[in-house]
Amino acid sequence: MSGKIYLVGFGPGAEAHMSYRAKEAISDADVVIGYSTYIKLVKDLLDGKEVIKKGMTEEIDRCIEAYEQAKLGKNVALISSGDIGVYGMAGPTYEVLLQAGWSPEDDIGVEIVPGSTALSACASLVGAPLTHDFCSVSLSDLLTPWPVIARRLDAAGKADFVVALYNPKSGRRTQQIVEAQNILLQYRAPETPVAIVKSAYRRRQAIQLVRLDEMADCDIGMLTTVLIGNSSTFVEKGLMITPRGYANKYDALTGDAKEGEQAGRSLSMGLEGWQACLRKYLSENNGLTLEKTADYFGVPLGDVLSAIAAGDDAGKHKAARIAPEKIQAALSASENWGRLRGIVRAEAGAVTELFLHGKDFVHRGDWLNIETGAFHLHVNWAKVDAAYFACRDQRSYGLNFVDAFGRLLFRVLLMKEDGEFNAEPLNAYWTAWDELSCEMTEEEND
Ligand SMILES: C[S@@+](CC[C@H](N)C(=O)[O-])C[C@H]1O[C@@H](n2cnc3c(N)ncnc32)[C@H](O)[C@@H]1O
Repeated sequence: MSGKIYLVGFGPGAEAHMSYRAKEAISDADVVIGYSTYIKLVKDLLDGKEVIKKGMTEEIDRCIEAYEQAKLGKNVALISSGDIGVYGMAGPTYEVLLQAGWSPEDDIGVEIVPGSTALSACASLVGAPLTHDFCSVSLSDLLTPWPVIARRLDAAGKADFVVALYNPKSGRRTQQIVEAQNILLQYRAPETPVAIVKSAYRRRQAIQLVRLDEMADCDIGMLTTVLIGNSSTFVEKGLMITPRGYANKYDALTGDAKEGEQAGRSLSMGLEGWQACLRKYLSENNGLTLEKTADYFGVPLGDVLSAIAAGDDAGKHKAARIAPEKIQAALSASENWGRLRGIVRAEAGAVTELFLHGKDFVHRGDWLNIETGAFHLHVNWAKVDAAYFACRDQRSYGLNFVDAFGRLLFRVLLMKEDGEFNAEPLNAYWTAWDELSCEMTEEEND
């Protein structure tokens, strides 16, 4: 006879927040295995059961023990706080079982019993901070290299996720929370609301509502979860709230959000409508550069160019995508545009302007080069994914090359001579525009 393994998440701690199925599973178990603190939290449910307590570092031992006991025909409950599948024992247990040759069709059954994870338990105590997109990041670098954690924090900051930090600090790991604060402050205002919840639904429960720039100085420990708001999160009457909608943020674009939008339909700033909003924004804000527009919408420059190309209502801006098979021809066409300004931007902010001529471009392997007495320009041509003509009302006429992520690789711009664009290069530019660009609709853009 074979037993069964229940992998039970019993919620944040209080019995009232344990699921019905979690109690049933523990009741059905002959053996209950868990970290000693967890065993204490469910002690009222353990009468008549064999209890195996393990230390915090003995995770794999707990899994092996569960399997051994099940092989003896016993029902085993391996317990964990919160949800056992969230930074919990479900993963290691399956790994141990699979390595031992177990499979889901085996006589030993495995059932995962989900529980309320710390981020939802903690959120419930401070208001409604998770009602829009959020993510969780564990600051524990015991098994995850710090650069991976930092990259995830950076992505979460950039993408304006509400962030839940698990394992934020311990006796030995004290600087990770400081680094996390520094990374997120690059994207969020210092006054961004932060909830620090310790021991939610346990005897020593403690809550602090602070600002992002105060976070790292607060009382934070092993039993704390930190919830960091996004750019829309606010605190009112002691409640931390993240609104469900972003429409208010883009009011200026969508007009009267309520009248302009339809119930049950995507926002006018939705998947299909945002490009029209971007063009409207450009038409209403004269003098904006492509870069400033990209910053405003939080998109790469290539997305701005494709949005402009998809309509003819972007104010003083016009753009056209070049047919993929004609990108080289567009570069060759630049030989007829006279003196050019080559623009290369470094991510950190430096902008290099090089005076060059289209005929100086030379391909060597993957590279597009210009080598003069004054400078060497090397562009990784293999990275060019799309190219766009783009002009801004008699002020600039250019050719832009972007990579697969829409990031600008380089741009060439026609130059004025004696304060004016010469007719001949300008005509050659428009001829290339007409011959090499392809029509784009918003649907094609998607
Ligand atoms: C190894 S993870 C386990 C997470 C758990 N499986 C869950 O779903 O909540 C441990 C971390 O969970 C968080 N945590 C667990 N229980 C908590 C509670 N009652 N109050 C606040 N945070 C808690 C803390 O961030 C702690 O460092």
